[in-house]
Amino acid sequence: MVQIKSDADIQAMLPACQHAANTLVMIEEHIKAGITTNEINRIVHEYTLQHGGIPAPLNYRGFPKSVCTSVNHVVCHGIPDHKKLKDGDIINVDVTTIIDGWHGDNSKTFYVGKPKVRAQKVTEVAREALQIGIDVVKPGATLGDIGYAIQQFVEKNRFSVVREYCGHGIGRVFHEDPQVVHYGKQGEGMVIREGMVFTIEPMVNAGKAAVKLLNDDWTVVTRDRSLSAQFEHTLAVRPNGVEILTLPTI
Ligand code: MF3
Ligand code: CO
Ligand code: CO
Repeated sequence: MVQIKSDADIQAMLPACQHAANTLVMIEEHIKAGITTNEINRIVHEYTLQHGGIPAPLNYRGFPKSVCTSVNHVVCHGIPDHKKLKDGDIINVDVTTIIDGWHGDNSKTFYVGKPKVRAQKVTEVAREALQIGIDVVKPGATLGDIGYAIQQFVEKNRFSVVREYCGHGIGRVFHEDPQVVHYGKQGEGMVIREGMVFTIEPMVNAGKAAVKLLNDDWTVVTRDRSLSAQFEHTLAVRPNGVEILTLPTI
């Protein structure tokens, strides 16, 4: 069942969404060779609390940390650990904050130092894929239109779209209906309506689309160990289009 949010609900989601976005702005200067993902986790955790938020990932279905950090061939849900970032890595930092019971979900892939050609290409394609998906969103379009636009663009660039994980409705619940898949056919899927709030978060692999879940039951990697990049925004459907809720205010 897809919830339709009122204007007041969408207003109420803004602090959580902006907090998540501001956290990504804040973390950028820390993303450099030598920092561990545990340190990134600690900085995000402390910043979140200091600014009146709760880190949604912590203890969510048993997730052990406050942020997801997905490095290189990790597709999503990477668990922060003792490993240090190295020059040339790419890292997705996925921040979800709860304020007043509302969730905001926002992620970005960052370069550690100077990226190699392929790392840069897959990251820029993922960044643009998210924007292309957002550009489709308006009342009357379908979820399939979003997936189609993203898949066409990614495959035209000879990369692939992950199938097993998708965008999602969001509000008082972290993951709610609808599922927003990043592949599909024009005109198929649910019709988008004013007041829907959901994420788009395409995971783009430099190699094949297949993924594998590691034994920790969280970390998702590309089966072929190719690089993977992702960007995510939380969006509200408005009468004439879309509002990106996860824009930074700092
Ligand atoms: N933030 C992720 C998403 O975009 C979900 C992470 S679940 C966690 O939907 F438990 F790993 F945090
Ligand atoms: Co999400
Ligand atoms: Co997220």
